[in-house]
Amino acid sequence: MRHYDIIDYNAAEHARLAEKQKTTERIFDGKILHVARDTVELPNGHEAVREKIVHVGAVCILPVTADGQVYVERQFRYPLGRVITEVPAGKLDSDEEDILEAAKRELKEETGLTAKTWTDLGLFYPAAAYCDEVITMFLAQELEQTGQKLDDDEFLDVVKLPLPQLVADVMAGRVPDAKTQTVVLKAARLLGVIPQERTGGLHMDALEAIFTRRSTRKFKPELPPRALIEQVLEAGRSGPCGHNSQFSHFYVITDPAQLERLAVLVREAFAKKEVTPGMYASLVNSITVSKKGTYVFHYHTPVLIIAANRRDYGNAMADNACALENMMIAANALDLGACYINQLHWLDEEKSVRAYLRTLGVGDTETETITGALSLGYAADGLPNRTPRQTAGNEVTWL
Ligand SMILES: Cc1cc2nc3c(=O)[nH]c(=O)nc-3n(C[C@H](O)[C@H](O)[C@H](O)COP(=O)(O)O)c2cc1C
Repeated sequence: MRHYDIIDYNAAEHARLAEKQKTTERIFDGKILHVARDTVELPNGHEAVREKIVHVGAVCILPVTADGQVYVERQFRYPLGRVITEVPAGKLDSDEEDILEAAKRELKEETGLTAKTWTDLGLFYPAAAYCDEVITMFLAQELEQTGQKLDDDEFLDVVKLPLPQLVADVMAGRVPDAKTQTVVLKAARLLGVIPQERTGGLHMDALEAIFTRRSTRKFKPELPPRALIEQVLEAGRSGPCGHNSQFSHFYVITDPAQLERLAVLVREAFAKKEVTPGMYASLVNSITVSKKGTYVFHYHTPVLIIAANRRDYGNAMADNACALENMMIAANALDLGACYINQLHWLDEEKSVRAYLRTLGVGDTETETITGALSLGYAADGLPNRTPRQTAGNEVTWL
């Protein structure tokens, strides 16, 4: 077996814990497995029997396209008696075979893909208690399709799906295969699909995501990966809506120059307004800070999602509010900060703002109303605001 330098070898520890082989008996020699029954001397001098499977070693590969899609296989696994989802993988041809070459060969044979970029993601022991198999994991990128070349006894389907979807499937327990779970989570973390610093994130259940959600109002300028933004949008699109109408329309702005221009127009529009007695406190704030010339309604967010809806639809505001809440909860579960932004709703009929939004592609004032928006991005201090909430209002009366 190959020597892998995983952790520092500690001679004293080895002497204290190691078992010494006394006898060995080959009881089976197969095509991929060799089974031995050994007797060993334990550290306390006693004797024990160890059954061991000797395996040449294997590789597994997660192929990822430039737009975040991955290829997996659906393959019948005889010992389990079922078709399972797995990443491309295969055993080494011999003890001497170069591991990267083996990975390239297996990827090409099983999926027809070749890759220009290969990243070694380390190795793992799939069954250390009774087998010496070592599986080395690779991330394969910059892919090209050249045509599958399966072995005569190999039957499998290749499936393409978004990496965040596969991560969600792994987290939900829908992918029991060990190598697939390991390589998917490692690659996802490396590619930023699972944020690096996390406390809850994809481990959060719905209630935790709801109860820890607070508004984030300071953002890092960097754009989160598109796959994360898309998951937040999907959460919005999955919100409940009157008669399942699905009339919401989400506009996503990520261009810093466009966001900056919008902030200036919003500031100018509020600066022209006057505070009146009894006015809503947040609106008073928008007007007074705008008059001072310092107002930035979206908190320098890297992503602004505008929620619009049909102007003539009675549930426009309610449906969009549900969508915005879904997006805020999803953002929290993905370790992204978010804040409900109301100013574009207040300026729904403000000509200068709507005219500029129209140039960006937002629907016209006659047909679409803007009911709100969402600032979204990495929180300035790494994780979204999760300050515990003191709930004093929002009364409940049981009748
Ligand atoms: C309908 C609605 C409009 C809001 N508008 C704004 C806004 O324009 N700007 C802002 O900073 N926060 C806005 N918020 C966020 C609230 O201020 C915030 O949810 C509230 O203070 C509770 O704090 P939390 O979100 O941290 O729990 C809005 C929230 C809702 C539900």
